[in-house]
Amino acid sequence: MQWQWLQPGISCTVRTYAKINLTLDVLGRRSDGYHALATVMQTVDLYDTLSFTLRDDEQVRLVCTQPELSTETNLALRAAMVLREYTGQRYGALIELQKRIPSAAGLGGGSSDAAAALLALTRLWRLSLTSEELLRLAASLGSDVPFFLYGGLALCEGRGELVTPLPSCWPAEWRWLVLLKPAISVSTASVFGALTARDYSDGSHTWAVCAALREGRLPDLAHLYNGLERGVVERYAAVAAARAALLEAGAAFVRLSGSGPTLFTALAHLEEAQRLWLRLQEQGYEVYLTQAIYPSVESLTLLSLPAR
Ligand code: C5P
Repeated sequence: MQWQWLQPGISCTVRTYAKINLTLDVLGRRSDGYHALATVMQTVDLYDTLSFTLRDDEQVRLVCTQPELSTETNLALRAAMVLREYTGQRYGALIELQKRIPSAAGLGGGSSDAAAALLALTRLWRLSLTSEELLRLAASLGSDVPFFLYGGLALCEGRGELVTPLPSCWPAEWRWLVLLKPAISVSTASVFGALTARDYSDGSHTWAVCAALREGRLPDLAHLYNGLERGVVERYAAVAAARAALLEAGAAFVRLSGSGPTLFTALAHLEEAQRLWLRLQEQGYEVYLTQAIYPSVESLTLLSLPAR
C-alpha cells in the first residue's frame, strides 16, 4: 500500500489480486439457499489498481476505466457505503479503479476490490474496527470477500466466508499459472442453481490438498477437483472448447476457477509456460501468464498497526 500525502486529499493506491480455486468441494445445499463449500484459494499476480482519495464533502464516488463498471452495484463502492453506514462517519472518498481482472470470470476480481476498499478506507477514514467486524462486513458483501482480506493461500469453508490461512507453500512444480478466460461471462448464481446432487462431494479433495500442501508435498492431480466444473463445461460450449484447446496445447491438467468460465493450468518452467501462453494467444484466446502471490502489505494484519 503506497501512502501519498497529497493536497488537498490524502490518497493511497493498492493492487487487488485475482484468485484461483485449487479445489472446490460442494458439500450440499444449505437451508439459506447457499451451498456449503470446502475450497482452497490462492491469490495470483493478475491485479486491478485502486486509488482512494479523501474528500471532505460527504460524497463517495467511483470511476472505473471500464465505464460499464462505474455503477452503484460495483462491489468496491458498495464496500465503501457499507463501511460508512456501519461506522456512521461522514467523510467522502473518490475511488479510482483501473480494471484488469476480467469480470464475472471466476477470478474474484470484484470481491478483491471490495476487500481492498474495506482495508484502505478503514485507514483513510481513520476508523478503528476489529478484524471480526471487518470480516463480518466483508461476508455481507459476498462469500469470497473475507478471503481477500487475507490473500495468499487459504482454506475457505461455510459458504466460502470462513477463512483459515495456510502457510505460503505454493508448490514449485506449479510455479507458473496460465489462465484462459473464454469469451463469455457466467453468473455465479446460475452455476450454483444448476447443481445436482451428483456434483456434491464430501470435502475429501480439499482435505487431501490441504494435507499435501501443509506437508510440502505436491497434491495429487486427481484431487484438483471443482464440483462446479461438470455443469459449466456441459452448459457452455465455449468453455468445453477452451478446455480442449488447453489440453491440446500440452497442459498437464485443466481446472475451472470458481464458477468460471476461467480455466487454469500450472507448469514448473517459464519457457514451457510461455510456449503454452503464446500458442493459445495465437488461437485468439484471452490468456494470462501469472504466479501465486502473497500480498503481505495489504492484508488484514496491517490493521493492527496504529492509524496514521
Ligand atoms: O456470496 P455471493 O454474493 O458471491 O454469491 C452469489 C450467488 O452464488 C449467491 O446468491 C448464491 O446463489 C450462489 N452461491 C451459493 N453458495 C455459495 C456461494 C454462492 O449458492 N457458497
